[in-house]
Amino acid sequence: MKTIGVVTTGGDAPGMNAAIRAVTRIANWKGLCVLGFERGYEGLITGTFRQMTPRNVGGIIQLGGTILHTARCPEFKTLEGQKKAAKNLHDHNVEGLVVIGGDGSFKGAYELSKICSTQMVGIPATIDNDVYGTDETIGFDTAVNTAVAEIDKIRDTAISHERVFIVEVMGRERGFLASTVGITVGAEIIIAPESKCNLDEIVSIIKQNWRKGKRAGIIVAAEGCGKVTEIAKTIEKNTSAEVRLTILGYVQRGGSPTARSRLLASLFAEKAVEILCESQGNRLVGLENGKITSIPLEESCRKSKPIDTSLLKVNEMLSI
Ligand code: ADP
Ligand code: F6P
Repeated sequence: MKTIGVVTTGGDAPGMNAAIRAVTRIANWKGLCVLGFERGYEGLITGTFRQMTPRNVGGIIQLGGTILHTARCPEFKTLEGQKKAAKNLHDHNVEGLVVIGGDGSFKGAYELSKICSTQMVGIPATIDNDVYGTDETIGFDTAVNTAVAEIDKIRDTAISHERVFIVEVMGRERGFLASTVGITVGAEIIIAPESKCNLDEIVSIIKQNWRKGKRAGIIVAAEGCGKVTEIAKTIEKNTSAEVRLTILGYVQRGGSPTARSRLLASLFAEKAVEILCESQGNRLVGLENGKITSIPLEESCRKSKPIDTSLLKVNEMLSI
């Protein structure tokens, strides 16, 4: 293998730059030329890339976002789009492609692998942590720490005013962020898309807390629950609590990656390049039980990673 490509696609995640840097430097170390495709799959379709060198990835390990930019690319979901991408990879002799992204990106890479001789390797990077085949994704730890730092500040004002705050964290479909953030901020209630949002139960917990002299509280709700305003109104109507709502939003997607996100990025990249150098491909690298591993891309796309619902149970005990 002489030339590989690297691309960041889907929602950005802190640590993507650290992964680009590590892929570039490790591949260069092993004598490979690296092309960086821009704006996700759009760059594959239009053939927009830049040559990556150890020098032009200097000074980026600590930067959030992605220097290659990212995009959602509807055209890539079509066979025509995928054929254009396959042709560009072929025309530029790209024998291996490292895709840094989330579960949608890997579905795209898997589809591309069916019509293209270029070997694909996925590196999981998303703040949602919802990729099958890895215990953790690049960016998740950073997003957790960002959310915790913000909610700690909200806790201060919640205690001063004896208010209940509902804080919405990201996670359109999955509650990995909500459950981890909820436990680590000492949330009174965690609402994940995977668990039923029972308004009566929430009201009853707030009332019990009030009776116990616990007037302030934090409810961490995943974006995917979709009814934070309704929850706020229901609590105000049925309890004595004064409620405020904060949507954390896109702050969770940016910022300097934590040491943990940088380390995962570097180790995943090393494994990805190794897989390509061994002329294997169509695999996803991951972290399983503390070890860097890989599974077939097809398996990751077929299966879905469940949240650990025991975290929600533990939180019930912690929040008495
Ligand atoms: P993420 O990778 O963060 O989950 P998306 O779900 O938006 O983000 O996926 C990123 C891109 O991957 C999409 O914009 C699209 O180009 C491509 N993609 C997603 N799902 C598929 C699919 N089933 N087939 C082909 N391409 C896909
Ligand atoms: O990166 C994952 C994620 O943040 C989801 O939690 C969220 O629903 C989605 O991306 C929103 O991203 P965008 O506005 O870029 O589509």
